[in-house]
Amino acid sequence: MNTMMEKRSIQTNVKPARLGFLGVGWIGRNRMAAILRSNSAVAVAIADPSEERAHEALSLAPDAKIVADLDALLAHDLDGVVIATPSALHAEQSIRALQSSVAVFCQKPLGRSAAEAAAVVAAARSAGRLLGVDLSYRYTEGMQCIRNLIKHGELGKVFAADLVFHNAYGPDKSWFYDKSLSGGGCVIDLGIHLIDMALWCLDFPQVAETTSTLMKAGELIDKLEDVEDFAVATLTLANGAVIRLTCSWRLHAGSDAVISADFFGTAGGASFKNVNGSFYDFAAQRLRGTASESLVQPPDDWGGRAAVDWAARLAGGQTYDPACERLVDLAEVIEGIYGSVKFSP
Ligand SMILES: NC(=O)c1ccc[n+]([C@@H]2O[C@H](COP(=O)([O-])OP(=O)(O)OC[C@H]3O[C@@H](n4cnc5c(N)ncnc54)[C@H](O)[C@@H]3O)[C@@H](O)[C@H]2O)c1
Repeated sequence: MNTMMEKRSIQTNVKPARLGFLGVGWIGRNRMAAILRSNSAVAVAIADPSEERAHEALSLAPDAKIVADLDALLAHDLDGVVIATPSALHAEQSIRALQSSVAVFCQKPLGRSAAEAAAVVAAARSAGRLLGVDLSYRYTEGMQCIRNLIKHGELGKVFAADLVFHNAYGPDKSWFYDKSLSGGGCVIDLGIHLIDMALWCLDFPQVAETTSTLMKAGELIDKLEDVEDFAVATLTLANGAVIRLTCSWRLHAGSDAVISADFFGTAGGASFKNVNGSFYDFAAQRLRGTASESLVQPPDDWGGRAAVDWAARLAGGQTYDPACERLVDLAEVIEGIYGSVKFSP
């Protein structure tokens, strides 16, 4: 996959896309650096209410201008905007950019609800502009390999998947713990990647039934506004296959992180796991009975690939891509997980 990305970014007769960067906290700067390194785009302007962060971002692109806000960014004849602001702002900012005929690459989640995600997709469709979301784990070599195995029928019928994401720390910014700003807790923050990995590998099957248990500090959550720090969910697909998800913040996990996606089929299995508790290093294996075969080992510099892919496609002239409609399916599954919790009266 590296080679494919590199080829895309060095099609040198393609003019780099003119981008604005909205929100340049840690992930915003990380993705900005990856896009600029790929030479598929140039940074025209940067907006962040934190002067310190805007200046840190400027050190990545000294020719860019620091501007006040999204309106000021959009005044700069841009091809696209890269949005990495707190989650509550994603949908509204994406829609405003798209309505100005500017393509969008947004951090996950695209919206706090399925309705918000659907409104952004509708704006992209009516503007005819490219919309991407940073579902970055799809771009790991391990998950690319596993998806290919499944797609080519190598695992037979996949009837079960187990996916786990425990982050032993949890977010350090206060807005993550306010549901009106974040949309939820570990499910919308970490579980979103697990759900996306499962649905994407299985080609977005229909989910027939969802059950979930959400907890906060070791107790079942009992108020709608509670932000969960531990979640277990089971998605039963229309074809009878079952996806089990577990995710958490600040778990006594025994390492920084426990991240895995295991798929089991009638003809074999495949497993994607982080190595030594790392957030960044992953290995993938193919499983047959009691035997396993290594598919991928670290290192794999995957973090910025979704952003680079979007920027390269934009520079190459790609307009609206209907694949973004799957983002609404993803948001609906998340809403189903939150919606299946029963609160005591
Ligand atoms: N794809 C991934 O794997 C991944 C990883 C980490 C974070 N994220 C997502 O990225 C988003 C940002 O997370 P973060 O950890 O970088 O948060 P952060 O708080 O460090 O960064 C957010 C930035 O947005 C700025 N900001 C706030 N309001 C703004 C506005 N109106 N206009 C412009 N900028 C504004 C803040 O000053 C800050 O610099 C979150 O939605 C999070 O879910 C995604």
